[in-house]
Amino acid sequence: MKLSTIALTLISTTLSAMAQQSTPRVLVYTATAGYRHDSIPTAIQVLGGVAGQYGVEFVFSEDKSQFTNETLSGFDGVMFISNSEEVLDATGQAALQTFFQSGGVYTGVHAASACLFQDNTYLQAVGAYFDYHPTLQTATFERLNNSFPATANVPDRWTFQEEVYNFRSDPRDQGAVVIMTVDESSYVNNATSTGNYPSQGTPHPIAWYIESPNSAQPLLPSAPKAGRSFYTSLGHTNETWQNTTFQGHVMEGLMWALGGASTKAYGVGLVGNGAASGGNATSSASAGSSASATGSSSASGTAGTSSSAAGTSAPASSNSASSAKGSGQMVSGKVAAIGVGMVGAVVFGMGMVL
Ligand SMILES: *[C@@H]1O[C@H](CO)[C@@H](O)[C@H](O)[C@H]1NC(C)=O
Ligand SMILES: *[C@@H]1O[C@H](CO)[C@@H](O)[C@H](O)[C@H]1NC(C)=O
Ligand SMILES: *[C@@H]1O[C@H](CO)[C@@H](O)[C@H](O)[C@H]1NC(C)=O
Ligand SMILES: *[C@@H]1O[C@H](CO)[C@@H](O)[C@H](O)[C@H]1NC(C)=O
Ligand SMILES: *[C@@H]1O[C@H](CO)[C@@H](O)[C@H](O)[C@H]1NC(C)=O
Ligand SMILES: *[C@@H]1O[C@H](CO)[C@@H](O)[C@H](O)[C@H]1NC(C)=O
Repeated sequence: MKLSTIALTLISTTLSAMAQQSTPRVLVYTATAGYRHDSIPTAIQVLGGVAGQYGVEFVFSEDKSQFTNETLSGFDGVMFISNSEEVLDATGQAALQTFFQSGGVYTGVHAASACLFQDNTYLQAVGAYFDYHPTLQTATFERLNNSFPATANVPDRWTFQEEVYNFRSDPRDQGAVVIMTVDESSYVNNATSTGNYPSQGTPHPIAWYIESPNSAQPLLPSAPKAGRSFYTSLGHTNETWQNTTFQGHVMEGLMWALGGASTKAYGVGLVGNGAASGGNATSSASAGSSASATGSSSASGTAGTSSSAAGTSAPASSNSASSAKGSGQMVSGKVAAIGVGMVGAVVFGMGMVL
């Protein structure tokens, strides 16, 4: 183990919630069935680079066959990024609903609100569907809460070039607490709604969280609690993804959602990485050909992402579940999580073009 790996390990141990028992595992789903953001590879690369620092494990996929009860049960959370249109069939939607009803956590970024328009469970998880955005331009986003983790480290007034999303309904109707809004005088709203939708509410929602989303109802009998939900509409460009303030916004939102402790990485529940308690942490490996790229940790946090593996859809030469596994250890009576630095794995879907 390299010295830098040990340093990162110590950091992730410190950052871990007390209740955490093993490394939370998150399925990052970037499938598109319509518009495709060219920042998706950047998002994957960035997340692969910061995973170790946050003590989380990402499995990147565009393969909708991952969405089965069995495979999802190995994950603590799902993260949808810049998806479009119908990226899951009815079988996958049902499995995702079961995942939520089992305490599984949801996080959505940018066009995660622009998919699965017919799936009410998905609407309840994401909070609201995308309607339209004006031309990409500089706008000023305002935080409403300076203590919520995802906004604690962003400016009160955050001005940069980004798409300002408008929504088809008010996420507050789904129980969302809005943590970031946009100053509507800071940009030109030169586009119009695509339909006759209810109001998105005031102030104009940009990012929010849902403590107990309706998508988890009814909870399965032995599920401990609903998995939390976090959504941000920011994240259109490469520049946004490369901004460390934005990276912190997304990662802290995800970690807050996981930290609701509704899954096996936190010692409870029906789904998640149960490695520490001797459970079956297999997930991606059971999903067939997965190309695994386990990064070696480095202080600069660059290497190790799987996006470098783009284009290869070769059968796994190693099994991403085992290579990606964090090891949980009992430390002086307390349970601590020790992540194995940074991990990135890509599972390539058929016909996927990166
Ligand atoms: C964003 O980055 C990707 C590679 O990660 C590149 O293919 C794409 O052209 C970039 N987009 C812009 C607008 O520069
Ligand atoms: C998935 O799990 C749910 C809840 O246990 C169950 O009702 C459903 O039948 C399962 N689906 C499949 C395809 O096995
Ligand atoms: C702000 O965030 C803190 C920390 O998560 C939370 O306890 C509080 O309820 C939030 N306040 C509002 C108004 O959302
Ligand atoms: C919308 O406004 C922006 C900023 O003023 C401008 O750059 C863009 O060309 C406008 N687009 C349309 C379609 O009017
Ligand atoms: C990220 O955004 C913040 C807030 O706008 C800005 O202060 C900072 O300079 C940006 N960082 C980079 C690396 O672009
Ligand atoms: C873990 O799950 C996989 C896939 O369902 C299964 O093949 C394997 O036997 C399980 N291992 C254990 C130790 O339960």
